[in-house]
Amino acid sequence: MKTKFLKVALILAFGGFLYAQPQLDQESGLIIAPGFEEVKTNCTACHSAKFITLQKGDRETWLAMIRWMQKTQGLWEFDEPLEATILDYLSTNYPAGEASRRPNLKHTLLPPNPYE
Ligand code: HEC
Repeated sequence: MKTKFLKVALILAFGGFLYAQPQLDQESGLIIAPGFEEVKTNCTACHSAKFITLQKGDRETWLAMIRWMQKTQGLWEFDEPLEATILDYLSTNYPAGEASRRPNLKHTLLPPNPYE
């Protein structure tokens, strides 16, 4: 009896854990959330979605990247509602925050610097 209860509790806990993880699109690796379809359609035509999933930024940063691509890389213009949807998606799912890079190695772990 007791073990049965434990098993059920474990299954529920594990299910809850899985449920809390963001669901990823198998093809692009993008988080499936509101705006996902729009972003997949408009943002993976020229480059892999990895460009997006490896980036972080607040709304302003994402907008600046979009403007840069529009000015220099041939990205098309979006109408306002579409641009808002895309920016909501990006800034919600890939927000600014902790750097995605690992911290620098400690000085003592590095080989001697020959230029020092
Ligand atoms: C018309 C082609 C095109 C489309 C569509 C496009 N991009 Fe880009 N994007 C580029 C090019 C070209 C680069 C630069 C690649 C390089 O640096 O080699 C780039 C670079 C990027 C980078 C990397 C910037 C950096 O600092 O390294 C991100 C992030 C990005 N794009 C996001 C997006 C998002 C979000 C969308 C949709 C709103 C999008 N792209 C749609 C052409 C495009």
